[in-house]
Amino acid sequence: MTSTQDRTNIQQKTGKDISRVDGKLKVTGEACYSAEFPLEGIAHGYLIQSTIARGRIKAIDTSKAEQLPGVLAILTHKNAPKLNSLESGDFSSGHAGENFLPLQSDRVYFDGQHIGIVVAQTYEQARLAASLTEITYETEEPVFDLDKALEQSEKYDAGERLQPSRGDVETALKQASVTIEETYTTPLEHHNPMETSATIAEWNDDELTVYDSTQWVMGTRGMLAKGLGLPEEKVRVISHFVGGGFGCKGFFWTHPLLAAIAARKVNRPVRLMLTRQQMFSACGHRPRTIQKLTLAADDTGKLTAIRHITNTETSFVGDHAEPCGMTTTLLYACPNLEVKHNIARVNIGTPTPMRGPGETSGTYALESAIDELAYKAGIDPVEFRIINHADRHPHSDKPWSSKNLIECYRRAADAFGWQNRDPRPGSMRDGSDLIGWGMATATYPGYRFPAAAKAQILANGRVVVSSATHDLGTGTYTIMTQIAADTLGLPIEQVKFELGDTKLPQAPVSGGSCTAASVSPAVRSACEAAALKLIEIAIADSESPLYNHAVEDIITEQGRIFVANSPSVGETYQEVLQRHNLPFVEAQVSPQDKGARYKSIAARTKPGIAEDEGADSEQFAFQSFGAHFAEVRINPRRHQVKVTRMVGAFDVGRILNQKTARSQVYGGIIFGIGMALMEETLLDPHSGRVIIHNLADYHVPIQADIPQIEAIFVEKPDYHLNPLGARGIGEISTTGVAAAVANAVYHATGKRVRDLPITPDKLL
Ligand code: MOS
Repeated sequence: MTSTQDRTNIQQKTGKDISRVDGKLKVTGEACYSAEFPLEGIAHGYLIQSTIARGRIKAIDTSKAEQLPGVLAILTHKNAPKLNSLESGDFSSGHAGENFLPLQSDRVYFDGQHIGIVVAQTYEQARLAASLTEITYETEEPVFDLDKALEQSEKYDAGERLQPSRGDVETALKQASVTIEETYTTPLEHHNPMETSATIAEWNDDELTVYDSTQWVMGTRGMLAKGLGLPEEKVRVISHFVGGGFGCKGFFWTHPLLAAIAARKVNRPVRLMLTRQQMFSACGHRPRTIQKLTLAADDTGKLTAIRHITNTETSFVGDHAEPCGMTTTLLYACPNLEVKHNIARVNIGTPTPMRGPGETSGTYALESAIDELAYKAGIDPVEFRIINHADRHPHSDKPWSSKNLIECYRRAADAFGWQNRDPRPGSMRDGSDLIGWGMATATYPGYRFPAAAKAQILANGRVVVSSATHDLGTGTYTIMTQIAADTLGLPIEQVKFELGDTKLPQAPVSGGSCTAASVSPAVRSACEAAALKLIEIAIADSESPLYNHAVEDIITEQGRIFVANSPSVGETYQEVLQRHNLPFVEAQVSPQDKGARYKSIAARTKPGIAEDEGADSEQFAFQSFGAHFAEVRINPRRHQVKVTRMVGAFDVGRILNQKTARSQVYGGIIFGIGMALMEETLLDPHSGRVIIHNLADYHVPIQADIPQIEAIFVEKPDYHLNPLGARGIGEISTTGVAAAVANAVYHATGKRVRDLPITPDKLL
């Protein structure tokens, strides 16, 4: 055994290539998604959305719609109940995507704003009725052109936090031997998960149960309680499966509130599933950015100045600040830095986090600019990055909890064959096709938030573990099952993990790539605490072979508790429970904060195992890193870019499951390729309406667009973050992809495209 394994006590399944425990349920259609719960007497809701971007509703005539067969109710601002403000000072009870309540006034702030809900016996009846609702507007001139909005519109001041600086950029620029200054733009993008947002709301007297597709059951409960003026205990939110979120199901959007008031109105459960079109205004997007990068280096290639100014947007009803420049503060060692964000208000729905919010758009600009500067300095882009490696967090000066970025560069470069690259743009060809090789750095913070979990060891030897976390299709069910199985020394089939229900112990939003790092330690501790209870029963029991042994001498493996240095002295979990007529033992760990300590059997029985000290953010900077290498092939007449190869290496701490981790990384890279080459939500230039609101026009990569992808994990555990040594991997693999592809396009063609997506017209 290596010392790493000694420290974690988890060697059997964790880290292995294990298929999803819920895979069969999904492929057989048994997995029940939010819209599918078969409730008695369910009625169907359909949203009415505004078709202007700014103005007032002059009149709504529902008389024709109300006469249609099957129509049960139509709620608009004329007759909807009053809702309470969702604004909250912190994230403890959820967070609203926008500070805006639907059906409370006649104001329209963006196209696609919810202005009514129809409830009918069937979905088709509701949809038809919605289309027959006649609305007249008083239209005002909308603001949606970003450049104009920055000059003329109201600004959102996101505060000092987003304007960090250090040193003296101006002086450094004057003394530099090489500089660049370029502007990079990214378009509006939408998350487009396979499963659109969906809610079923059901009332039982004054208690509300909501089945919702959400990345945050606790947050959804908190916001529903707040909006409806109910105590949180009266609201239960269930979300067993989520068909993708990517950020658009993290914060609270108002459709569950509408489902709840509609259900109360018709006195039946109401199912509200958004259409693909409605998703383009109802639950956030990645905002447009215009990013100006100014970089300077000395004659050894060391960066001496970085200025990163981001112009971006939020809505009139929400305060989103896309933090593009924040990654720039930490990615390279550079003494002089200025970061600014200017945010204009526009008449579009409110932006929200989307796969690496800030990191993804920000690294496209920064990592493109670094490539440009490396070329100008005549230094290989990989070497340039190594020269400027930040050995400590360059802004806070804290040590990294664990950082292995140089190893990522080297391993990915070797696997890619970077040493065979001719750096001259346009120099590599295959037949008449241009070939380009580019690379970029990936990075994302290592977050850990407080989480609780419960473990029950049953008299039949099975184990049930639970936490109010989520599986967004990412593998949470599987990794938590593995961790519980390993902690208690059981086969996976003996363990059941439950999630997605506010009745379960508290867990954070499944956002910020935090789930694995936050919930895994709680699951492990809960299992340890349950085993400890069993051990305490046994050592106090004169009929047990463990009678009078010390807790410290006992370990749990293969479904047994036994004396560590004398394994035959011991008994099974079942034997203990059955002898005492106990149906189960259970334990719950509920950390009050990230510094909470759990009792850890592993810590007490295996020398050298650390106790869980929580993520010490005072002492360390927690950040994941990686490197992407991309190969593109461009037909010189068609100008169409095809990504033919991607190699990425990632420093994300310990890998809990090779298979689900690899899949996560593939998904992230595919998202990055979409961003580089295809994704863009277009607005009508006259009205500001979203005109690309379906998957025919909003292009995402399909099978034929996806190259061979190789994912390498450096696998250095980060024990400062948690005792499993795992950091999250949800978002990091998207960051940097667009820059790696853009840099490869430059290498192939000699043309810098500083405006995403890189469509053929931009290469003419
Ligand atoms: Mo993620 S964009 O933080 O759900």
